[in-house]
Amino acid sequence: MFTATDFIPKKYTSTIENGNFEWSAPSNIALVKYWGKKDNQIPANPSVSFTLSNCKTITKLGFSKRYTSAPLSETTAIFSFDLLFEGKPKEDFKPKIQKFLERIEIYLPFLKDYHFTIDTQNTFPHSSGIASSASGMSALAMNFMSLEKVLNPEMSDEYFFQKASFLARLGSGSACRSVKGNVVVWGKQANIEGSSDLFGVEFPHTIHDNFKKYQDTILLVDKGEKQVSSTVGHDLMHNHPYAERRFAQAHENLDQLISIFESGNLEEFIKVVESEALTLHAMMMTSMPYYILMKPNTLQIINAIWKFRNETQIPVCFTLDAGANVHVLYPENVSEKVLQFIQDELVVFCQNGQYICDQIGDGAIAL
Ligand code: PMV
Repeated sequence: MFTATDFIPKKYTSTIENGNFEWSAPSNIALVKYWGKKDNQIPANPSVSFTLSNCKTITKLGFSKRYTSAPLSETTAIFSFDLLFEGKPKEDFKPKIQKFLERIEIYLPFLKDYHFTIDTQNTFPHSSGIASSASGMSALAMNFMSLEKVLNPEMSDEYFFQKASFLARLGSGSACRSVKGNVVVWGKQANIEGSSDLFGVEFPHTIHDNFKKYQDTILLVDKGEKQVSSTVGHDLMHNHPYAERRFAQAHENLDQLISIFESGNLEEFIKVVESEALTLHAMMMTSMPYYILMKPNTLQIINAIWKFRNETQIPVCFTLDAGANVHVLYPENVSEKVLQFIQDELVVFCQNGQYICDQIGDGAIAL
């Protein structure tokens, strides 16, 4: 079994002065939700997600070796990096990156030897309420692994991707599910061999054709800043009255998904996915302090989806992340009808009529 110390590298065999890498990494949408964590970003329960395709972060990492006449103790005390967002310096993103670098330094001991320019952009609109932390941390982790691969050319592909996911997790838990496609499990689950609390793994069992090219249309209900961050939300699962039962339920739901993915039973799929979404929000509503991230239009959309599904028998369902936006999930063969329904009945509940069409995707790509 892997432990975190397996990702502390031995001596590097190669050197490099400067250069750059560029990676794109997608967002992901959880079907069984990660909510609650232990120390060091270890999840309280296993989760599974669809990797997305269109919603992604593209990050270019420039690096050059630092040479300075200042005493070593002073120079090595700080990380040296510039952060650009859409080509312009973005100071308010720096503390999060700084914290990420501090967390991963033990696993990437070269980080203080270089000055970095991190140039990042998202394909989805800024402040759309779509979290960019999963795709962003994944894209950055991929770039750092490309650099480590130069320093250690013997590195296997398996180690490369596992460690990228491991590092991304330390930036933002769900980011570890944004390295690979199409269905990714994170967190130890008895019936999913290879699953780990340390990194995401590709779902190892059969996936029915019903789920190939599965669609996710993201309805932007509220693009404002969340009142309660995910960090605070995870924390409120400590001493939560329903926590233990919820964590056990996530294991059960993942078990169910194993057979659902194999059989392609969309009715059962919908039950698990919608129940997971509402359970996530139920955890928020039953925390102390309690809070609600859904908006009136979130509920309008959910009700409209239920009505449409009842009337048409089209297997369309919803999921939610930690916010008011609604992810509408459906198989590719009903796309036309569902998109028409979204246009006719759901767009009115979206802020400025905005929504994003996405689908299941393949994971991070070197550019
Ligand atoms: O990765 P974080 O700490 O932002 O947490 C994300 C949690 C959810 O999006 C609500 C669920 C999930 O599994 O992605």
